[in-house]
This record gives sequence, C-alpha cells and structure tokens, in this order.
Amino acid sequence: MKFIGFEYKDSLVSDTQIKKLAQELEPEINRVKDALSSGYTTGYASLAAPTDKATLDRVRQVIDDKKSLNIKALFIVGIGGSNLGTVAIRQALFGCMHNQLSDDLKVYYADTVDSDYIQDLCTRARYFLNRGEPILLNIISKSGTTTETVANAQVFLKILIECYPQSFQDYVVVTTDKDSPLWLLAEQQGFTRLEIPQKIGGRYSVFSPVGLFPLGMMGVDLTTLLEGAYAAIVDGSDTAFENNHPARMAAIIYHLYTSGYIIHDLFLFSNELEGVGKWYRQLMGESIGKESLKDTTKANIGITPTVSIGSTDLHSVGQLYLGGPYDKSTTFICIETGQDTLEVPVIPGFDRLVKHIQGKELTTIMRAIEQGTRQAYSENKRPYMTLTLPKKNDYYVGQLLQLFMMQMIYLGYLLKVNPFDQPEVERYKIKTRKILADG
Ligand code: PA5
Repeated sequence: MKFIGFEYKDSLVSDTQIKKLAQELEPEINRVKDALSSGYTTGYASLAAPTDKATLDRVRQVIDDKKSLNIKALFIVGIGGSNLGTVAIRQALFGCMHNQLSDDLKVYYADTVDSDYIQDLCTRARYFLNRGEPILLNIISKSGTTTETVANAQVFLKILIECYPQSFQDYVVVTTDKDSPLWLLAEQQGFTRLEIPQKIGGRYSVFSPVGLFPLGMMGVDLTTLLEGAYAAIVDGSDTAFENNHPARMAAIIYHLYTSGYIIHDLFLFSNELEGVGKWYRQLMGESIGKESLKDTTKANIGITPTVSIGSTDLHSVGQLYLGGPYDKSTTFICIETGQDTLEVPVIPGFDRLVKHIQGKELTTIMRAIEQGTRQAYSENKRPYMTLTLPKKNDYYVGQLLQLFMMQMIYLGYLLKVNPFDQPEVERYKIKTRKILADG
C-alpha cells in the first residue's frame, strides 16, 4: 500500500506530550479497529463504505443504466454533506475548468436557493434539452427533507417534465435514506433510488452512493478511489500510534487547541484542491463545534477551520498568519508531482525583472514558494504539519478524504464531543420550515 507523506517536526508539540495523548487515544483506536468488523451497525459506519462491494455493484448498475440514455449533463441537487465531497473530488481530479475544456459529461451543482444562480442553471438545463441532449437529475438528501434541496429538486423536475412528459422518471436518480420522506416519494414517482446507509452521517458519506454515483457518472475510477480510502482506514486503525497518522494529527491539533491555537488552517498548494478545503471545513466545523459531552458546565468546544490556497492567499492573509496572534495551527497540503509541465519562457529583456526564474518550470517555482513559506512559519514559530500527495490522483485523493474523516473521529474523542451529530444545523432547518409554514 502506498501512503501520503507526513511531516510533523514543526508542529511544536513535544514527544512527551504526544506520548501522553497516544495513551489517551488508545481505547478509541481499539474501538475504531473493532468497528471495522461491524459493518454499518455502529456510529463508525462510514468506515465500512470503502469495502462495501454490494453497494458499489448497485451504484455501477445504475451508472450503466443511466449512461445508456446518452446523458450530456448531470445536475446534482444537494447541499452540505450531500454534495461537498463530490465537488471536492471532481475538482481535484478533473480541474476547475473541466466543463469548459472537455467534451465529457458536464456537471452542475444546485445547492442553495439563490434564485439568480438557480435561474442560470435552469437556462443551462434548457439549453441541453432544447438541443435534444438529455440531462440527468441526481437529487441527494440524507434526511429527504432539507428545504433547499426539496425546492431545487422541484424546479429542475418541472423542466424535465416539460421536456419528457411521459418519461421524465428515467432521468432522475434519488439518493437518500431508506424510508425517508424522499425515499417514499421517489417510489411513488417511479424514480431510481440509491440508499444511504442509515448510520452514515452527511459529511462522512462521500464513499457511499452520495458520492459514488455522481463521481462514477463522471468517469472517476471508483475502485482506485476506494482503494485509497481503504489505505487510510488501515493507517487510521493501526494500534501502533506512531504509524497511525489520523490519530497523530488529531493529537497535535488537540494539543495546540488546548494551548490557545483555536483556529486550524488547511493550506493547500493547489487551486484544484480548494474543494477539498471546503469539504474539510464542513467536516471540522460540524463535527467539532458543539457542546462538550462530558463537561457538566456544558462548555462550547470548537476549532475554527479556515481554508487557504497557496500561493494566492500568501498575498492576502499571509501577513496575518505570520505576524498576527498565535492562535492558528496549520496543515499544509503539497503535491509532489504535478500533471502538467509548463515552463517560464525565456523572453529577451525579461531577465532584468527576476533573473532566476527564466526557463524554470512553474512547479519548480511553486516548490520554492512552499519551502519558503514553511521556512517562514518555522522561523516565526507558527506550528504546522505537512501532508504531501505523491500525485493528485484517484488513489491519493480518496486516501486524503478518508484520513481526514478518521482524524475528525479522534479529535472528537479527545475534545469529548460527538463528532457525528449536528444539532445546531437541525435547529436552523426546523426554524426555516416553521417560518415557511407560518408564512
Ligand atoms: O453533514 C451533515 O449532516 C449536513 O451538512 C447535511 O449533509 C446537510 O445539512 C444536508 O442534509 P441532507 O443530506 O439531509 O439534505
């Protein structure tokens, strides 16, 4: 098995502190290990997804079925945990401009209910249909009741019904919990359904049909993606703490949090990993930001996740990160080998500007910026860890996301919060429904 590279030497957490936390984490690591043989029955159910062959077969069957309709564009209707993982993986593997640059399946996301944005997507949907090019609607909602998703689903369904009054059902796939209101409605309407295992929470669901179906439609190599995720599970269930990277990273972030580093920045040296950053922000925000389980004073716990893109954000918040308060820890994400090689051309006269970059590859310049940034962080005693992906491919991206999900489980344990619930997200959903019902 091949693994992402890890470096902790500048985390500013001593070996003694790490050893203490390793002992504290031991029972949880054992629980995670035991849960691997329990399938979808425990709170750790998401760990079963990467090896669930039956679900993968079912997803593949639906993909084959829908591909036979010659679909040209996929409209994904879902929000939060129901689409962020898919956005992250697609962007990481296909780039930020895939819709514009390739003839592959076009992909659009309807998450919030911004009417200007949704109107543009409707125009796009009609554009395909008017040209006789079929579109597919994938409605994704674990609860099956999220206001934004239910509203947007109907907006796009109406367009489908106008175009295919007799057969619109063929162009819809619904991904939801078995027996959710949406599941039952999809049955009545005759839509194809994909089931989300009940104990897998939204933000942990990317390797369930929530992510697998749309990603498979796009042509992601699901086997390799899941092999990568499985490698992270092997790593994250290793009872030898020094080999268990998710646990070790959690211990470092936890220790720093208790020492005043209340913000954690995921600093990605790749534009195409910005989606991973936003997915991680949700994972950390919703998993960790809540009342402590065991504290009688009901302390409110939370590490504020931020996302930075290198080198863009060095010219935005770099000053704050290096010169501001000592309240941020950082995980840098670097890519060892880029896909494309592009050189700075040698144009006469330009060597007067910055001589030492003439003829160099952009990746070489980016490596220098990464190193320079880390050296500056070390010099200014800003704690950080570095993860290096040998390549930005299906295997390592799958591994990275699974590694983070396990990190969050261990962080939740250390912070004594339930990493799997999101009571305050539910609170806003209930209030919104009430306002709409009363109005
Ligand atoms: O992680 C979570 O549980 C949430 O962010 C949900 O994914 C989000 O609120 C959408 O919910 P649902 O999938 O039920 O529509």
